[in-house]
Amino acid sequence: MTVIHRLSDLLINQIAAGEVVERPASVLKEVLENAVDAGARAIEVQLEQGGVRRIRVTDDGCGIGREDLALALERHATSKIASLDDLERVATMGFRGEALAAIAAVARTTITSRAEGEAHAWRIDGHDRSPTPAALNQGTVVDVADLYYNTPARRKFLKSEGTEYAHCDDMFRRVALARPDIGLQLSHNGRVVHRLPPGAPFARVGALMGDDFLLQAREVEAAGGILHLTGFASLPAYSRASRDAQYFFVNGRFVRDKLLAHAVREAYADILHGSRHPAYVLFLELDPAGVDVNVHPAKIEVRFRESRAVHQFVYHALKRVLAESGAGLAGEAGAPAPIAFARPGVDSVAAAPTGAGLSPSDPATRFGNGEGAPRTATALRGWPQGAPQQGRLAMESASRSYFDFAAGARPPAATAAAPVPAASQPLPAGDLAPPLGYALAQLHGIYILAQNAAGLILVDMHAAHERILYEKLKTVLDGRPSVQRLLIPAVFSVSAKDMAAAEECADVLAGMGFELSPAGPQELAVRSVPALLAGAPVAELMRKLLEELREFPATEVVTSRRNELLATMACHGAVRANRQLTLPEMNALLRDMEATERADQCNHGRPTWTQLTMTDLDRFFMRGQ
Ligand SMILES: Nc1ncnc2c1ncn2[C@@H]1O[C@H](COP(=O)(O)OP(=O)(O)OP(=O)(O)O)[C@@H](O)[C@H]1O
Ligand SMILES: [Mg+2]
Repeated sequence: MTVIHRLSDLLINQIAAGEVVERPASVLKEVLENAVDAGARAIEVQLEQGGVRRIRVTDDGCGIGREDLALALERHATSKIASLDDLERVATMGFRGEALAAIAAVARTTITSRAEGEAHAWRIDGHDRSPTPAALNQGTVVDVADLYYNTPARRKFLKSEGTEYAHCDDMFRRVALARPDIGLQLSHNGRVVHRLPPGAPFARVGALMGDDFLLQAREVEAAGGILHLTGFASLPAYSRASRDAQYFFVNGRFVRDKLLAHAVREAYADILHGSRHPAYVLFLELDPAGVDVNVHPAKIEVRFRESRAVHQFVYHALKRVLAESGAGLAGEAGAPAPIAFARPGVDSVAAAPTGAGLSPSDPATRFGNGEGAPRTATALRGWPQGAPQQGRLAMESASRSYFDFAAGARPPAATAAAPVPAASQPLPAGDLAPPLGYALAQLHGIYILAQNAAGLILVDMHAAHERILYEKLKTVLDGRPSVQRLLIPAVFSVSAKDMAAAEECADVLAGMGFELSPAGPQELAVRSVPALLAGAPVAELMRKLLEELREFPATEVVTSRRNELLATMACHGAVRANRQLTLPEMNALLRDMEATERADQCNHGRPTWTQLTMTDLDRFFMRGQ
């Protein structure tokens, strides 16, 4: 008598289903991917009750021949791979030969299919596995009803219809984004929710992510060796409170990959951080042999053979695109778009989306761009002695007209041509004029008004200062940071993994100014920190650092963790609203901005300044019309 016995096939499949079929959305994923693998040009999805009652997918793909129908429902039966060699270079979505068997074990499953050349279709169901004749044009219908009807324990884990539907919808979007060349339709409880004709990636992304996203996204297109990255990534102005609009595909497969997520986060680190998240749809293509897709039951994680190279490639490709899109007065190019000015009663108020509407003649775009650009320090030194004075004069006359106004003069009516005296002396011409001009005044303790060659500059004082501080802190730490020894070492408990990470990365940490040593079997002592971080909560900071060091390549992580910290410091160190600034202080801030990279966006991705040109103002006041 043995105590060990073989499990029945049904039970084996039900156990396997635990991994493959987590909820209706996972059924939908498998069935949709099969349709894609079958070369379908059009796929229709019908859901009932969030997919719990029914998931029905109709495709016009290659179909399954009568002889193969029963096999399709068998475990470990697939047409997609035959050898280990095939497994190592999988180009299809499926390869395990497991999905349909698992689904059939936990739901009432019927497959109707007609392969090319067959006189009619055949139908098979999960119970009685002998094919019967049926009617269908070429292609396949997979019908999955009453999910978990025979496994009540699992049924209890299903959420509300709305929640399950939302997961199905997301799954559908993933496939639809990955394959704009396939026409797709989704209906729920008889109502059509998505109808997506085949077309260009641009159109598909617009249909699913919204035109707003496209307007505020940059197109990504980068190639390096065997790697190819395409898609769309949002500008900081389109950042979101959650990660819900992030889609990364590797060889057409949606993945949630830590390495890739990290590369993206890093690329955005300087322009977006904290609680905001970018939106993106990105496609990484590479030789299938360079990526292992067989590491996760839902095939949602992958492993790259050259993970470092992939990380670096994605990081640099994105960073480049984001920089081109308008970050950096003194950096690559660009500036926030001018405000689209509305005339009362003539136009409706509209703000141009950030990054759009730049023209090469826009002084904001021109300055700081390549050679001959007045970098502040040199430009300042080159100015005639009295030049900065003109800013003061400009300010005084401006404030005089302001006081006139405040003293009771009513704003001139549009019809009455009451000429207000010009607010300023002429600015020095050409290269001598600083790009952001000279401060005129502070508005409500929040904005700085300045006059430059093109017209009026408005600066968000806190946002601008925050960016400047942040960049300065980074520069300081790029060299050898000065170190603050702690009088009393900060001791804190750590896991064995953290302990190992601390040991492995001791050099990296020391390079940043952190000196660590074990204080007990599960305790670490921090004896020094970078001077700039002297006031930071050391244990908390170290734990976070170690956690990231465990997961990601050392150098990048330290940079990102460090930068996040610096950003927080900058935010708290930056000048707060209602601080009265003197004119020299404001001018100094403007000059700092000109010398600071990415100065046109604060660390949270908000613009720091904008320009209203004389043309904008003339248009607003309908001058010369
Ligand atoms: N819609 C379809 N059109 C044509 N053939 C299909 C379709 N769906 C399934 N098949 C066939 O049935 C087989 C089994 O499908 P199943 O999803 O169980 O496994 P797989 O796709 O090979 O691997 P995986 O378990 O990774 O999905 C497939 O290999 C394919 O030959
Ligand atoms: Mg499959």
